[in-house]
Amino acid sequence: MTVKRVALCFLMIQSIFKDIRVKANKVDVCASCHQKATCDDKTDGSGGKVCNCMYGFVGNGRTHCQDKDECQLGRICGDHTKCHNTYGSYYCTCLAGYSPSNHMNTFIPNDGTYCRDLDECSVQGVCGEGGLCQNTDGDFTCSCQIGYTVQGGPEPFNPKRDASYCKVIDCGSPPSVLHADRLSPTITHYSSELQYGCREGFQWKRGQNSSVCGLDGKWHGPSLVCEEVDCGEPHVMPHSKMVWNNISRMGSLALYVCDPQFFNSGRENVSVCTAHGTWSRPDFQCEEIQCGSPPVLPHSVLFWNGVSKIGSVALYNCVTGYHSLDTGNVSVCKTDGQWSNPDYSCEEIVCGEPPILPLTVQIWNGRVTFNSTVTYHCKHGYYPKQGHNVSVCAENGYWTKPTLLCEEVNCGIPPSPPLSVMIWRGDIKVGSSVSYKCIEGFHNVREGDTSVCDSEGIWSEPDFLCQVCLYVCLFRSRLWRPGLTTSLSCVVE
Ligand SMILES: *[C@@H]1O[C@H](CO)[C@@H](O)[C@H](O)[C@H]1NC(C)=O
Repeated sequence: MTVKRVALCFLMIQSIFKDIRVKANKVDVCASCHQKATCDDKTDGSGGKVCNCMYGFVGNGRTHCQDKDECQLGRICGDHTKCHNTYGSYYCTCLAGYSPSNHMNTFIPNDGTYCRDLDECSVQGVCGEGGLCQNTDGDFTCSCQIGYTVQGGPEPFNPKRDASYCKVIDCGSPPSVLHADRLSPTITHYSSELQYGCREGFQWKRGQNSSVCGLDGKWHGPSLVCEEVDCGEPHVMPHSKMVWNNISRMGSLALYVCDPQFFNSGRENVSVCTAHGTWSRPDFQCEEIQCGSPPVLPHSVLFWNGVSKIGSVALYNCVTGYHSLDTGNVSVCKTDGQWSNPDYSCEEIVCGEPPILPLTVQIWNGRVTFNSTVTYHCKHGYYPKQGHNVSVCAENGYWTKPTLLCEEVNCGIPPSPPLSVMIWRGDIKVGSSVSYKCIEGFHNVREGDTSVCDSEGIWSEPDFLCQVCLYVCLFRSRLWRPGLTTSLSCVVE
């Protein structure tokens, strides 16, 4: 301020002297003004004119107006600036590391613009990869981030002045572990963490699974130890036997077989030693073999205690009226869970033609099925002497034997009514007959004169009665005369 004030004072004094001179000369002042001057009214109210050098020029306004070097007036641009004089004017720029507050390249300080520290760190990557920027007043420095080391020069450094740069710490190829594989991608710079896992068929026993790239550029870890998988003894499965070669490495197998009378209701029979060191649980289950219900045979009755285990037995018998000539009336529950097929079929009992018995007639309805009957009767002229007269169609398909014995009916000696003679040929069979005649002097007074041997073996009682003839009576009463024939006169009185 003091500088400005001094300058203004100087100008004022100068113009006062000028006015005085103009008044004295009384010449055309304006025509005499220097080309870098203006002709102004005097300020003293005298009505005169005065030549004033233009802004940025100094001189008497007429004979000379020369460029004013404003930069000579001390620190006119302010701190951290460079002053640039021009013909008739000047401008300011900021020193390296500073930037003008009006965001232009140049400025004149009278608008309040000033130079402030430039934050070089606000520009990305000014320190290069891995560099850490630190702003200072008018400058900046770089150091290396953690995980980077400085190369080529000192630290901290300025990338414009120093050859230093930051380089990432790299641990190089990762370590390898016996029976283990690396699980993560190969990134080898500082703080990278690599995971390791035991290979298939091997199991983690102890140690750290990861490796970390340290500040020292070395890998730390891993320390894991992998041991081959050992599944130990396979599972014991109920009702089964195990076939196993005593090897329990990954991929080893154990085979299961169901005990007799059991079957596998699952779909597998093998257990595998897995990569986890455990035997797999196979879909294997031994269940007792059950045959279910025995088969049904037509026309038969089943005798079965309801148990359908292996060896269980079911028996068959034909229902009434049916029989079988087969002997295999048994079904057995077999080891495959099936009942054996009984060799047994029941057929209806049919007896065929009934037996023929001599001297008999059959009373029969023609049926030949089980329990049908035939009754035998002695034929005419015969009588049942002994035995059974019924035959039954029996279970074995045969008629029972009838034992009826028929004998011919026999009437014996015919009866002989009194006073008669018998005319008989000696036959005693049923239907045989005998006829009677009264003796001489007698005659039959009834209707009949025969007796017949009936089916009961009895001669019928003849309707026959002999009485004395009339002529015999006459004779006996001496009334008889010769010439009366005996035959004609023998009539009923
Ligand atoms: C290493 O990995 C194994 C298998 O994945 C795991 O059982 C174990 O706990 C891990 N150990 C450590 C120290 O992380």
